Amino acid sequence: MSEMQTIQWFPGHMTKTKRQIRASLKLVDAVAEIIDARIPVSSRNPDLNQLIQNKPRVILMNKCDMANRTATKLWIDHYAAQGVTALAVDCKSGRNLNQFPAAVNTVMQEKIARMKAKGMKNPTIRVMIVGIPNVGKSSFINRIAKQNRAKVEDRPGVTRGNQWFTISKNLEMLDTPGVLWPRFDDKIVGEHLAFTGAVKDQVVDVELLAVRLLEFLKSLKPAEFITRFKLEDMDLDNTDPYELLQIIGKKRGMLISGGEIDTERAAIMLLDEFRAAKLGRITVEMPGGERK
Ligand code: G4P
Repeated sequence: MSEMQTIQWFPGHMTKTKRQIRASLKLVDAVAEIIDARIPVSSRNPDLNQLIQNKPRVILMNKCDMANRTATKLWIDHYAAQGVTALAVDCKSGRNLNQFPAAVNTVMQEKIARMKAKGMKNPTIRVMIVGIPNVGKSSFINRIAKQNRAKVEDRPGVTRGNQWFTISKNLEMLDTPGVLWPRFDDKIVGEHLAFTGAVKDQVVDVELLAVRLLEFLKSLKPAEFITRFKLEDMDLDNTDPYELLQIIGKKRGMLISGGEIDTERAAIMLLDEFRAAKLGRITVEMPGGERK
């Protein structure tokens, strides 16, 4: 169950969260920001830059098993062009997680050199995980914790109760992630978060959401989507998305009494299949913001 479904962000809560994250940031050298590789823009927190200031950061593009491979590569190149280190990972299978220590080392290079110059031989680097709900923070921490024995420590200067996991030699991770909020003020961001299931369906109109998703899918035309719903012979560009929802519902035999199509059921089915990547490995947001 994602935290998005239980946490209702409100100003007081956000202030408290910011305070907690600032306190945790004092204990770490670097930050690993987890985002959803399918929606790299919408799954980021708008205030993170201001919160972490100049602290070195690695972006973990999680759920890369569900994102388009080419798109993920384009994103990583896009970040690299900005001098930002990003790594595509999949916390379900553990793919690429072994590259995390090297990525942290890359962003910490200058700081490590300074530490060494001050006489610290093999400084231990500490990182914390941050991200909006549902991006896979717990999955990441659980994976790393499973691979690496948990280490409980009460060090001087370290708040009691903080646990650190040893990830590799001289690299430790704080056990508690910083849970941040997504943008609230942008309709498209909300829509994209809802596509992936990060926002609960009770707060959105599922049929409207499915229609918006179909608008996107009919222009992108992913092969798996076309074959799954046998849309090969359709002129998708000239089909209204609501009509497409009806066609899909009909093809799946989703009828209500009187022969009408149950578009609500069709919408729920479509969203479920999209979220499970059954319609293909689809990235909704591309660098440069093609989708508005
Ligand atoms: P959070 O702490 O940031 O809120 O996220 P969490 O780890 O709880 O992950 C949210 C959902 O995303 C979970 O699914 C989790 O299994 C899934 N997930 C995390 N990382 C990946 C990934 O790399 N690939 C895929 N495909 N899924 C990922 P859930 O449906 O809430 O739970 P469950 O299916 O694990 O029972």
